[in-house]
Amino acid sequence: MLLGDWERIFKTAYNRSMKKIYGIIGDPVAHSLSPVMHNAAFKKLGMDAIYLAFRVSPEEVGDAIRGAKSLGIAGLNVTIPLKEKALSFVDAEEVAKKIGAVNTIDFSSGTPAGYNTDGIGSLRILKEVVGEINGKNVLILGAGGAAKAISFYLDAEGARVTIANRTREKAAQLVSKLRNADFISLGVELEKRIEDSNILINATSVGMHPNEDATLVNAYLMHPDLVVFDIVYNPLETKLLREAKRAGVKKIVDGVKMLVYQGAASFKIWTKKEPPIETMENAVRDALSHGSS
Ligand code: ATR
Repeated sequence: MLLGDWERIFKTAYNRSMKKIYGIIGDPVAHSLSPVMHNAAFKKLGMDAIYLAFRVSPEEVGDAIRGAKSLGIAGLNVTIPLKEKALSFVDAEEVAKKIGAVNTIDFSSGTPAGYNTDGIGSLRILKEVVGEINGKNVLILGAGGAAKAISFYLDAEGARVTIANRTREKAAQLVSKLRNADFISLGVELEKRIEDSNILINATSVGMHPNEDATLVNAYLMHPDLVVFDIVYNPLETKLLREAKRAGVKKIVDGVKMLVYQGAASFKIWTKKEPPIETMENAVRDALSHGSS
């Protein structure tokens, strides 16, 4: 056999056994729980893959995505503050375009393909907890990226969505893109609307560390049949969720589920494998109880 043949055989074997690299880009990103969650999933499924965190500034997002493709990185998550900017450097699915943000990039085909799995995650959680979403009154606090992603999915599923946001114009803009939705202010209007709501979702950063004593809704406004879901997971039990407990709310959902389900949806896009949800959730809860954020 010629040396060239050996080289070819070696290269083929090397490429086949090469570790797949995934990661998250954002800034700040050092405390992201995505590496812990995805690496636990790879280990559970016996996959030769690793997930890393890369700090990337908004000016560098295009270079980072192009560079990742050249380096053979298999997939990326995108987090704050790059989700909107990343949209212009990928071929995005329709719903991600509508939301105006991507949180997942897949490099398996020629052009980087962009997805937004934030909304899929929240829809899945609510279906588990509530069952049928069609016809439910859902009150969403916030009109930022997270609120957009969640409201598009719930609206498409037939929920009647109300957006309550501090800045009314942002709420109005979001509502104009939904089929069956309206918006209200955070004050008296919210107090009235919550009585008829089936589901309350906090999609703002209110209550997040270090402002752990903040909440937009207090116990006296809640009724026991309201489902209360907070997308904030740091702290795990936010003030909103403590208030929900005080009000005797039976169904309370913390932010870990949202993180895990959006991650699971990304995992499936990249690997085409069924994500080990329980392993991912345990890894995140473990990391949170040991002080990561
Ligand atoms: P994300 O992409 O995580 O949703 P974002 O786009 O910055 O982040 O949106 C944050 C949301 O939290 C917004 O709806 C914001 O309200 P404004 O549109 O008025 O800015 C809301 N928010 C943040 N801090 C708030 C506070 N102290 N009180 C009320 N709403 C707050």
